[in-house]
Amino acid sequence: MADGKALFITLEGGEGAGKSTQIKRVAAALEQMGKQVVVTREPGGSKAAEAMRNLFIAENGAEWPLATQALLMFTARSHHTETLIKPALAEGKVVICDRYTDSTRVYQGYAGGMGLKAIDDIKELAIGDFEPDLTFILDIDPEIGLKRGAGRGNDTDTTFEQKDIEFHQALREGFLEIAEGNAVRCKVIDATQDEDSVAAAILAEVEKRMAA
Ligand code: TYD
Repeated sequence: MADGKALFITLEGGEGAGKSTQIKRVAAALEQMGKQVVVTREPGGSKAAEAMRNLFIAENGAEWPLATQALLMFTARSHHTETLIKPALAEGKVVICDRYTDSTRVYQGYAGGMGLKAIDDIKELAIGDFEPDLTFILDIDPEIGLKRGAGRGNDTDTTFEQKDIEFHQALREGFLEIAEGNAVRCKVIDATQDEDSVAAAILAEVEKRMAA
């Protein structure tokens, strides 16, 4: 962190947890407070990583071999991290990213079945010990989340949303397990609350971290 103001925040969760809405809200609130904010996403974020995202979507990457999925996520992540995230943090900006390494841990490692050790080995090669300062896990029962997410028309509707409910339950368990093991970095938010309450909980935590 360059001057104490920089903060790398990620939002994680299963399908339909409301990440996009909340990212817009927290970014707007921080800008109002005079912070310089960069909103980005994964897979993607940088030009090369967005091209990898497009490949993943066009090919329905959810059906690729797990190692192919994980390696592509970290290839994209390495580029995104080195060319966009780290330079923005070095300028003292707040970076808010829609999904990051925890998504690979959970989608490919935990629910997919590759295992967390394999993911963390690839991570080490790709981005070393780099982790977000603060991660919000937007937690919701997937039965509710999938209904909410349906018809949202996001560009990856054809990938993981089609997996069975057990896969989505495993995603939820995986995120909660990561939160338990990383209690300082991760904050679990009940995403069934109304939108204003979720936004208030997120902002309160961000302000707490900024003051720390
Ligand atoms: P996206 O449209 O960003 O989905 P969402 O709106 O649910 O965030 O698509 C990203 C999809 O790719 C999402 O289903 C999760 C998955 N994914 C992985 O499987 N591994 C990863 O490392 C990342 C970052 C995403």
